[in-house]
Amino acid sequence: MCGIVAIIGKENACEHVLNGLKKLEYRGYDSAGLAYISDKKMFNVRSVGKLNKLIKVISESKYSKLESSKIAIGHTRWATHGKVNIKNTHPIIYDKKIAVVHNGIIENYEKLKAKSFLKSYNFETTTDTEVIPVLIDSFVSNGKNFFESAKSTLKLMEGAYAFAAIHQDFPNEIFVARNTSPLVIGVGQDFKVVGSDSHSITQLVNQVIYLEDGDYAIIRDKEIEIYDKKDEITNRKIVNVNTDIGVVTKDGYRHFMEKEIFEQPNVLINTISSLLQENDKIDISTQKMGIKKNKSILISAAGTSFYAAVVAKYWIEKIANISVSVELASEYRYRNPSNIGFSSMIVISQSGESIDTLMAMRQAKKLNLKTTAIVNVEGSTIDREADYSIYTRVGPEIGVASTKSFTSQLTVLFLISIKLANENNSINNKDYKNFVRLIKTLPNSLSKCLKINSDIINIAQKIKNTSHTIFLGRGYLYPLALEGALKLKEISYIHAEGFAAGEMKHGPIALIEENLPVIMFLISDGLEDKSISNLQEAVSRGARTILIADKESIAKAKFVNFAIEIPEFEKKFVTTFSPILMAIPAQLLAYHVARERGTDVDQPRNLAKSVTVE
Ligand code: M6R
Repeated sequence: MCGIVAIIGKENACEHVLNGLKKLEYRGYDSAGLAYISDKKMFNVRSVGKLNKLIKVISESKYSKLESSKIAIGHTRWATHGKVNIKNTHPIIYDKKIAVVHNGIIENYEKLKAKSFLKSYNFETTTDTEVIPVLIDSFVSNGKNFFESAKSTLKLMEGAYAFAAIHQDFPNEIFVARNTSPLVIGVGQDFKVVGSDSHSITQLVNQVIYLEDGDYAIIRDKEIEIYDKKDEITNRKIVNVNTDIGVVTKDGYRHFMEKEIFEQPNVLINTISSLLQENDKIDISTQKMGIKKNKSILISAAGTSFYAAVVAKYWIEKIANISVSVELASEYRYRNPSNIGFSSMIVISQSGESIDTLMAMRQAKKLNLKTTAIVNVEGSTIDREADYSIYTRVGPEIGVASTKSFTSQLTVLFLISIKLANENNSINNKDYKNFVRLIKTLPNSLSKCLKINSDIINIAQKIKNTSHTIFLGRGYLYPLALEGALKLKEISYIHAEGFAAGEMKHGPIALIEENLPVIMFLISDGLEDKSISNLQEAVSRGARTILIADKESIAKAKFVNFAIEIPEFEKKFVTTFSPILMAIPAQLLAYHVARERGTDVDQPRNLAKSVTVE
């Protein structure tokens, strides 16, 4: 989603802004731009498309004093209001003197535009953002200084947003504000920098301040004044952050997604070793999680993280005998949920910034539930606001499609399941030890799963021209069918639907027609014959069937068109671990189909990595 970078007090401000924006590219965007002030004059350069295009535009034209400017703001835009075109690209400039970059949505922008005191203003864009510089101008025209004008503007705004503004007549100040959408200020000695996340600015600073909701600040090269929502000057904590992890590269892979799929054995070692102690105890406190006897657990998330939650429901209920409810965060937050029967909520989020998940967590807090975040990005809003955090530690995930995050979230959730089960004696010590032993073998098993890559390429070539697909799974593999379908549709743009195998006859079977690819995840769990029958029913109606399964199941379903065999895993436990093992073929299939179709795999159309608007 939109990325913001701003800087004051540093030579080559524009270059630094561009470097910061590069690091926000993973969030997904459709246009980019920057504005800077030089000799009390505002300049701006914008382009539709990726940052490389903006950089080309800059290098091909002579932009006045671009190198010498010490104040600049920049933006990558993911369109919410208004088409993707130059006019709507940020910074949104008013009268060549006020520039604003904005992330989020100003919900009352139409009402604000209609204010009588703005009657004389012409709005040139179709964005909600434009109302900000216009309001600032109206207040400045009435004699207020820049800070007071921006503050007055802020007080009129409703919605979830973060923005930064500069004014050419006040060239020594940047105004920033945050309400729900993230914003971080980096503290350099003689300069200050602002970013949508700390990753975008740690090439310049190693101390940051996370603004809280309702905060706004006026930033000068040597000082930062922060105000809270009650307009009182406030001291927010200065946090030391890991120094720059550098620009993440593809390391010879064609796409970040491919790299991230193949990284999974290694990153899983990080996830596991950060939570599993030498004595095989799991470093997770179920007490801090607020889990109580006879109380159910609530898990909430969005997208792929939600499908990890569904797998966790199956695991925790089966292994620990504790009932679990899963909630799509976007639904939970608005439906006046009850807290009866619950003492805790787990939220799962790679980015730690998904607005729906954040809001679901806040809703749970209002209901007095203890909140635990399973999160990848340390210092993200969800991490900071949760009562307790457990990190997946997979490093930056750049591809919009979540891959290594999913398997690491599952691993954390499995550790929670057996910890709970061991604590409430649903499993004995021997079983516990056995599970721990198997968790330690997971990285190696994932390496073996990756070896089926070439078989999957073969299938991808066969189905790449289809327009529709169906994914099926049962039990632990039902959420995987949903995840497989999500992965395929988001990066290949092929319509894909996931169903529980047993649901086929209740409607979806009507979709089957000649040659429709039906992809089934299957494991010998005692119910495989039922699922095989479901597949037979699809074959009878002309479907092309692709089975991703263990050896035993494949032997029973010789009629399928293609079969992918997952590597052997300890027989007694293969069902339990199947969602982690089969995540790899699901990801590889989506990846290769998309690559064959030539889509923008890492930044698919219309999508963003951090979904910070509703
Ligand atoms: O950062 P989060 O885990 O909160 O993100 C949730 C979803 O937006 C995310 O999983 C999304 O569905 C991915 N594009 C899936 O690949």
